[in-house]
Amino acid sequence: MEFKISDKMRNMKPSIIREILKQMSDPTLISFAGGNPAADSFPAEDIARFSDELLRQDPVAALQYSVSEGVPSVREAVRAFANRRERVAKENDGVLITSGSQQILDFAAKCLCNEGDVVAVENPAFLGAFNAFRSSGARLAGVPMEDDGVNLAALEAVFAAPEKPRFFYCIPNFQNPTGKTMSLAKRRAVYALAVRYGVPVLEDDPYGELRIAGGPVPSIKSMDTEGAVIYAGSFSKILCPGMRLAYCVCDKKLMAAFVVAKQCSDVHTNVWAQRVCEAMLTRTDMDAHIREIRKIYAAKAALMMEQLDEKCPQVRYTRPEGGMFIWGTLPEGADMPAFVRECLARKLALVPGNAFMVDEEAPCGSFRMNFSTPTPENIVKGVSVMAGVLAAQGL
Ligand SMILES: Cc1ncc(COP(=O)(O)O)c(C=O)c1O
Repeated sequence: MEFKISDKMRNMKPSIIREILKQMSDPTLISFAGGNPAADSFPAEDIARFSDELLRQDPVAALQYSVSEGVPSVREAVRAFANRRERVAKENDGVLITSGSQQILDFAAKCLCNEGDVVAVENPAFLGAFNAFRSSGARLAGVPMEDDGVNLAALEAVFAAPEKPRFFYCIPNFQNPTGKTMSLAKRRAVYALAVRYGVPVLEDDPYGELRIAGGPVPSIKSMDTEGAVIYAGSFSKILCPGMRLAYCVCDKKLMAAFVVAKQCSDVHTNVWAQRVCEAMLTRTDMDAHIREIRKIYAAKAALMMEQLDEKCPQVRYTRPEGGMFIWGTLPEGADMPAFVRECLARKLALVPGNAFMVDEEAPCGSFRMNFSTPTPENIVKGVSVMAGVLAAQGL
């Protein structure tokens, strides 16, 4: 059979990171390429206990169809969790339980964009978001990143352009891929611009709980009095990604459209996983669990930075205040793709920075390193591989 792939999907490329990760079956490969949580951070015992209890005591509650918005008691527990430190979900906001926050990115584009519409995005940013937006026919307008977040003048220029973007996508906490955090002043300015130009903000925050240094910065959603911010939270990095659980907080009017998208996509999020998550939120000390994850990540990030300082002083890098990633930049004029290729030949996987750029062909001297997945031994070995390649390439 000859399949005629739709115009929408034909030009989409598989994620380069997923392609690199396919090589992970090679046990000798060290990967700084993925973005997986540390396997020892999963609360497997609690998940097993609550799942077992649920299936034995109330199996129908886990196994029957449910409502598209999410199980009501789960939505309540999630609302309380999201609001425990700041007011993320307001009175006019709905909470939708989704199959990963990837689904929220997909729904945002599906519900807000027509073919050819513009979406403003931090540049670089999360490749999975770019692909979700593009799969809805959106064109991306990249806004350059600075150390404290997006360049505001460039953002305003994109907002003021004749083809006004349908929304602005940003990752204010420990951004993927750069590890950068948007300052409070910039969050306020982004919100003010969004309201002034009538461009909604899609605030993607899967890493916000994973702070390892510095103090918390309020979310843009917490400043939202106009229903202008769509907030995407995720349990992937604080429980486990395999459960595919996330939540969207947005104005109820927009949520109504998201609920229809949900019905078209997968009817509702896995009820079993929702119920187990509810038990985790209401019957365990989630903050204590999150503190443990932070400890693991703080130690791994510190080790990777120490190794980089010692062995690769010629690589400039961001010092993340949380999350999972460090963004490295080679000395001026270096051939980044050749560096990443040679590291892979020596069994170290890195992600070339241009994979996260709106224009993948533009020259880029940076690459992304993940510190949450590799073991401490592999962090040490992997940075040694980088040092060897830098020396071999005369950098
Ligand atoms: C910035 C960002 N947003 C969203 C996601 C999707 O996460 P999930 O669908 O597991 O919630 C990821 C995954 O790594 C991410 O890095």
